[in-house]
Amino acid sequence: MLSYDTRQVDYKRIHQYDSNCMSSLAKSLELRQDSILVDFMSGHADAANSVVNYYATKNINVTPILVDKFSSQFPKNNSYVTLLSDVLSIPIPYNSVHAVTMKLGIHEISSDKQIQVFNKAYNILKPACAFSICEIAERDDSFRDLFSLIVKKKDELAGFDDFVKNRFFCTQKELESYFLDSGFNPAKQVMMSNFNYNYSYLLQTDFKNDKSKLLEFLDFIRNVVPKSYKKDLGFIDFHDSINLEFRMAVLSAVKS
Ligand SMILES: C[S@@+](CC[C@H](N)C(=O)[O-])C[C@H]1O[C@@H](n2cnc3c(N)ncnc32)[C@H](O)[C@@H]1O
Repeated sequence: MLSYDTRQVDYKRIHQYDSNCMSSLAKSLELRQDSILVDFMSGHADAANSVVNYYATKNINVTPILVDKFSSQFPKNNSYVTLLSDVLSIPIPYNSVHAVTMKLGIHEISSDKQIQVFNKAYNILKPACAFSICEIAERDDSFRDLFSLIVKKKDELAGFDDFVKNRFFCTQKELESYFLDSGFNPAKQVMMSNFNYNYSYLLQTDFKNDKSKLLEFLDFIRNVVPKSYKKDLGFIDFHDSINLEFRMAVLSAVKS
């Protein structure tokens, strides 16, 4: 059984970031009346909900299609169309939708296949329509590798062996080159936010209230973050939690 078959997490709660991220992502799509939006790796539809709600305030109707490989992740009592599919093999026709979003999804795909996700978005979008993503986007390899080590430790402690094996995080440059290499116009940075964990919620969800796992995780962070990085990462040790700010970007590009 894979971790997403059973993992139930509200990503709005486990990750702490600027609350304007999702409205800026919605705005970047520049949608018109009766648009079709595809939410790649939708989980509970946080991105789709944000887009629908943002455009509802402007009396613009948006119809979302949620795509996820794991049925357990779709929202309960959901009124949206759902496609239970691997993001790499979505059965959506060429040139058929007005917008694609993906929030915290690409790192679930192995590095050799990540470009295919951007190719897929390009393929299904109509011309002049946008693909907007919200993702960890580190400034260089060394920050990215440090972030990966920390997430790997968390996943190890939580028993998510498939995540430990498969997850691959990108630098902002790598994400931007995926857009370009799949044919999009150059990506714009719509927003940059700090990204932190909500440790009390992490304890409840991924660590199943096992406090010793949280303490081991915090000790790991204390030891793995080099002294010279602490200022850049806003490192503050509160003993039962640690402030550590990595970067999450909203990037958007239009199909040329
Ligand atoms: C970190 S969660 C993010 C969920 C949601 N986008 C959010 O931010 O609230 C990653 C999601 O990707 C889905 N997923 C993982 N691998 C996938 C794949 N190959 N194809 C489609 N969905 C996948 C998982 O089921 C999970 O819902």
